[in-house]
Amino acid sequence: MNRELRKTVIAGNWKMNKLASEIKAFSDELMPLIPGYKGWCDAVVCTPFVILPAALCAFKDTGVGVGAQNMSQHESGAYTGEVSAAQLTDIGTQYVIIGHSERRQYYGETDETVNAKTIAALKTPMTPIVCVGETLEQREKGITNSLVTMQVEVALSGISAEQASKIIIAYEPVWAIGTGKTATPEDAQEVCKVIRDVLKTLYCEKTANAITIQYGGSMNDKNAKELLAQPDIDGGLIGGASLKPDQFAVIINAANQ
Ligand code: PGA
Repeated sequence: MNRELRKTVIAGNWKMNKLASEIKAFSDELMPLIPGYKGWCDAVVCTPFVILPAALCAFKDTGVGVGAQNMSQHESGAYTGEVSAAQLTDIGTQYVIIGHSERRQYYGETDETVNAKTIAALKTPMTPIVCVGETLEQREKGITNSLVTMQVEVALSGISAEQASKIIIAYEPVWAIGTGKTATPEDAQEVCKVIRDVLKTLYCEKTANAITIQYGGSMNDKNAKELLAQPDIDGGLIGGASLKPDQFAVIINAANQ
């Protein structure tokens, strides 16, 4: 089935957690728990900027990718406190999360900045993980599907099919993030299928079937297997449970199905 056409990607989003000095112990504990994982998925950890060099060093030669959690849409210049895509790729960063709901909620990111950042990331070898998802209020109003459709359309505006095939889309219902409330596998599948259909309309069936769509929002060692068994859920973006090597390993192993 179409699942074979795309990669399963299990990405940890460490948010503003962990110290550089803690990463080697994390990788030493994780790696023996996921032997042979490259055969069924790509595993990634997305860390705070300042920790990236330590993470790149600790995961060197393990096959675990390293990503950032944000980047500037600008190439360079007078943007105090910002980090560019070129600076990230220069040190070897392979992935970058764009438009996480915490960035949208606390730092004023919009669908338009998400689009600009995605375009900037695609000028580099990095894989952008573009986040979309509804708030509880939007879900209760029954506008989840139309809202997520619009978020994907704007995020991908001006992006060709060839470029889009390098993107990962993460569906993260805001009400499920860090709350312990997970979307049911059926609800998560429904929205991921909506996203796949939008990709078909924007591009074509072949491109849509090649794009990895992750679910994120309280995915953990207990519920990962069922979520990842859904036909349009090709991986996870995991916050809390990615901070503990044993729990993260269970999720990576759950992708082996
Ligand atoms: P959570 O976070 O797994 O802690 O809910 C997911 C995310 O914010 O990416």
